Amino acid sequence: MDVRVFDDSASLGRFAAEHVLEAISARPDAVIGLATGSSPLSIYNAWAELARERELNLSGVRCFALDEYAGIDPEHQESYRTVITNTVVGPVGLTPELVHVPATVASAAAASAYEEAIAAAGGVDLQILGIGRNGHLGFNEPGSPFDSRTRRVSLTPETISDNARFFGAPENVPGEAITQGLGTIMDARKLIIVAIGEAKAKAVAAAIAGPVTEQVPASIVQRHPDVVYVLDRAAASLLP
Ligand code: F6R
Repeated sequence: MDVRVFDDSASLGRFAAEHVLEAISARPDAVIGLATGSSPLSIYNAWAELARERELNLSGVRCFALDEYAGIDPEHQESYRTVITNTVVGPVGLTPELVHVPATVASAAAASAYEEAIAAAGGVDLQILGIGRNGHLGFNEPGSPFDSRTRRVSLTPETISDNARFFGAPENVPGEAITQGLGTIMDARKLIIVAIGEAKAKAVAAAIAGPVTEQVPASIVQRHPDVVYVLDRAAASLLP
């Protein structure tokens, strides 16, 4: 496991974006896994900036989002489809048809279709991840099985309250989601996990240095062969 600590989110974003571009230079149709939320934005900004600076053609890159709210209108401004379109696909210059987001119907059939689509693409080369204050990855809340696959899940009150900032109030946050499972995430060939801010320090320390337990979903990545954590000083502050 490689743990990097940065003074500011711009240099963190550049470092992580170089990993993304390395995967794409190895294979122009690389499969990149996308997280949403606040943490990965500096990576997406840097990715877009470097692509512009270097005049890269990224139209062959394929992407799979980690998760999506169940039952949300896909056109809603906070659906992960919309967020990914606005923060990654447009700025980076990806081909929208090659960017997959789980279906908001979140049925068992949609979940297995998503797993099949990832497998048919040859698996994920590099997965970008944020981490929840409760140690979640994707919407795999504490107690999620380590071998879980894409499925419908309920969000914990903590996650609903964290995401209320995007919806104005907790009661507007969808209570369920469709998420790649921890087993799905662990199948990605490389993981980049980003955490910014003091609120993440406890989860980061538990995930990196605590026991591997389903109560801290992110602790499973201790068993992944190729993980890079990119942290700011505040998020790294409780690491031993
Ligand atoms: C987003 C996702 C979540 C977030 C996590 C951190 O697709 O699956 O696991 O990565 O909740 O969110 P932020 O970055 O907003 O603190």
